[in-house]
Amino acid sequence: MSGMNRRDFLKKASVLAAAGTLPISLVELAFGKGDPRNFTFAFISDSHITHIKGREFVRNWDRGLIRAVAETNLLDPKPDFIVYGGDIAQLGKPEEIDHGLELLSGLRGKVHFVMGEHDYYVDLGDYWRKQLGPDHYSFDHKGVHFVVLNSILTHDEWMHRDWPDGMARMKEMARLDNPNGSPFMVGEAQRKWLAGDLAKVSHDTPVVVFSHSPLQKIYKGWNFWTEDAEQVQALLKPFRKVTVIYGHVHQIQYNQIGNISFHSVMATAWPWPYPSTYRQAPSHLAKLTVPMNRADPFFERDATGWQWIDVHSGHVDLHYFLPNNTNRTVAFDEQLGHPVDTRYQDPAKRIPPQEHY
Ligand SMILES: [Fe+2]
Ligand SMILES: [Fe+2]
Repeated sequence: MSGMNRRDFLKKASVLAAAGTLPISLVELAFGKGDPRNFTFAFISDSHITHIKGREFVRNWDRGLIRAVAETNLLDPKPDFIVYGGDIAQLGKPEEIDHGLELLSGLRGKVHFVMGEHDYYVDLGDYWRKQLGPDHYSFDHKGVHFVVLNSILTHDEWMHRDWPDGMARMKEMARLDNPNGSPFMVGEAQRKWLAGDLAKVSHDTPVVVFSHSPLQKIYKGWNFWTEDAEQVQALLKPFRKVTVIYGHVHQIQYNQIGNISFHSVMATAWPWPYPSTYRQAPSHLAKLTVPMNRADPFFERDATGWQWIDVHSGHVDLHYFLPNNTNRTVAFDEQLGHPVDTRYQDPAKRIPPQEHY
């Protein structure tokens, strides 16, 4: 890890969080300095635990999750809870889900789970739900309303095609760049549920939504996309402070659409490149201002990571913990009204764009 070891990073980060990395006025604007409602949570995602045979699993992916669990347990201050952002399994096999949950059982604290497409398409989420309960739900914590959505559903006709078996369907959806796949969506039933859920929430309450796919349209070819994103965004529009945090893309992205801030999280398994790397225009590529350091293929943990998040302004600040890459913080800038990378937003300081490779 460049320049700072983990202990230093955690120490420095916790000092900064305690002191308020944001202007004090902003902290006060939210819950007040020293307000007990200020809190953090941790976020681990996309471990893609892959079964080989018997008790054998792909070791690299196991190691990523084991490391994230260990680091999360060392956080100071202790996060109030942990979110797991989906794709715990690679092909949705019970062995993979069980093994992933076994590794995650080392976490000290409550874990909220999000469904990923790799957990779902073999049996339409049956085994996952049997282990973990509903795939969409909400909860309130210290004045913030949290919503978990299953955003990786798709058209019924595709889902219930005459597949030879569930694994054939899973393998079509598990590929990144597959024209035989089908776009993700939240779907009408869940949108109806969401409308009812949000009807009980004051418009001044900060709302944080967890989904697996981006609730915005980034790149359809890779399913960095949610087909009914605009309809979900419309339901979130009345709220003053809204944040969507998603997994799936295995890279850092952030964006602002109207009142909604968007943040992706890193995977513990492997990094994806930015779609622009492959120049697959035309796309609906969102403005991705800060390419991450590209992975070193000779270092198995490079450009992977996990994150912790503080919510003390009512918006979220994401602190990315990136083994062997510079740690990053993407925080909401109250004056600009959107998230910024606190280190690389200035064009002069950006990592050279990947197009220059
Ligand atoms: Fe993933
Ligand atoms: Fe995914």
